[in-house]
Amino acid sequence: MSNGHSPSESGTNLDPWYDLYADRTAGLSASEVRALFAVASRPEVVSLAGGMPFVSALPTDLVGGAFERVMREEGPQALQYGSGQGIPQLREHILDIMALEGIRASVDDVVVTTGSQHALELVTKLFINPGDVVLAEGPSYVTAMVVFKSFQAEVEHVLMDEHGLIPEALRQRIAEVKAQGRTIKFLYTIPSFSNPAGVTLTWERRLEILEICRANDILVLEDDPYGLLYFDSPPPQAMRSVEEEGVIYLGTFSKTLAPGFRVGWALAPHAIREKLILANEAAVLSPSSFSQYMITEYLNTADWRGQIDTFRGIYRERRDAMLSALDEYLPQLSWTVPNGGFYIWATLPDHLDSKAMLPRAVRELVAYTPGTAFYADGNGRNNMRLSFCYPTPEFIREGIRRLSVVINGEMDLLRTFSQTAPLRSIAPARDAKLGIASPPSNLA
Ligand SMILES: Cc1ncc(COP(=O)(O)O)c(C=O)c1O
Repeated sequence: MSNGHSPSESGTNLDPWYDLYADRTAGLSASEVRALFAVASRPEVVSLAGGMPFVSALPTDLVGGAFERVMREEGPQALQYGSGQGIPQLREHILDIMALEGIRASVDDVVVTTGSQHALELVTKLFINPGDVVLAEGPSYVTAMVVFKSFQAEVEHVLMDEHGLIPEALRQRIAEVKAQGRTIKFLYTIPSFSNPAGVTLTWERRLEILEICRANDILVLEDDPYGLLYFDSPPPQAMRSVEEEGVIYLGTFSKTLAPGFRVGWALAPHAIREKLILANEAAVLSPSSFSQYMITEYLNTADWRGQIDTFRGIYRERRDAMLSALDEYLPQLSWTVPNGGFYIWATLPDHLDSKAMLPRAVRELVAYTPGTAFYADGNGRNNMRLSFCYPTPEFIREGIRRLSVVINGEMDLLRTFSQTAPLRSIAPARDAKLGIASPPSNLA
């Protein structure tokens, strides 16, 4: 076997090309829960698993009107290849959007990408050699870690609590990794309403973390898809608002407009921006002209701030529905209370394994994402991410009720077994690093 994969990692021996795959594909293993998610997308299943924005809240005439005007007035350009950096009118609008989070920048430093996911890939491609270290919150966004691993980066998690990344834990992790002679390229962080934990980094910690990274020559990759989707009060300003040279900031229209356009962006320090454009061209020639013209038209003509307010109201109501259902049906769990975004991070009683439990949950017609998906190191067994963005409040309530049937069933089972064998002999001890560092303040 030339590429060092085990058959279970990248396919089976029935794949005739198996020996030819590049080493970097070793990280591209289909997760075991993927098949279950196919089942979970059936209409009778309440899915609290995905992170799909509720695009039905967009008035269809808003998008339809933009389409007609774009085709009438700018059809030939919209259907043509464009520049590798993105169209200037859209980049101007992006400056206005980022200004809402305190960012001042030059239009020259914005690079439009095919969703922020593609920006993640381009930045990783620019910086990562095999074996380089990427620091990331524990837990962190699953598909960012897939990208990091596909470039053979090693992800090292940094502990977080209900106030986000813990600066002291970051210092320690940096010291440990450096002592091992490994190279840290960047810190990947989602400071506002993180995916999956739903927590927000305080302003003081943002400053301290920037300081730590500056002192250690570590770039900060600030991923901010949810910052404008706050419920009660805005999050602290973006980290990029105070640090230009050491931060690459990623934004997207996926959550404030619609992911189907596949338009996001990177705001990068001048020198990096040049390389990003070249990498963008190498990958896609130019990001979709059509989508960019559509979004520009939408921003020119629609009340986009009002639309973001509408989304906030919808997601706030759904968050509230999930929190009250959790209070009612699952008081034995602990969970984070997000002030924005799409996700709640729940911690199950000790010894429950959210991944092992998922097939039983799907049988009860409810789905969630097991916590292990959000760690590169196997942690998160007794955590789960619960998304409140897509189902209606009624479905969220019903979903949590069904989940309570599953969890209560599991606990009954454990109690039964514990009468014949000590619990610790049938379930692994809880690792201190599981979940976030300390119980969130909402916990009963
Ligand atoms: C933290 C985070 N980053 C990036 C993305 C990718 O978003 P997109 O490529 O749609 O802009 C997502 C999508 O859910 C996300 O949650």
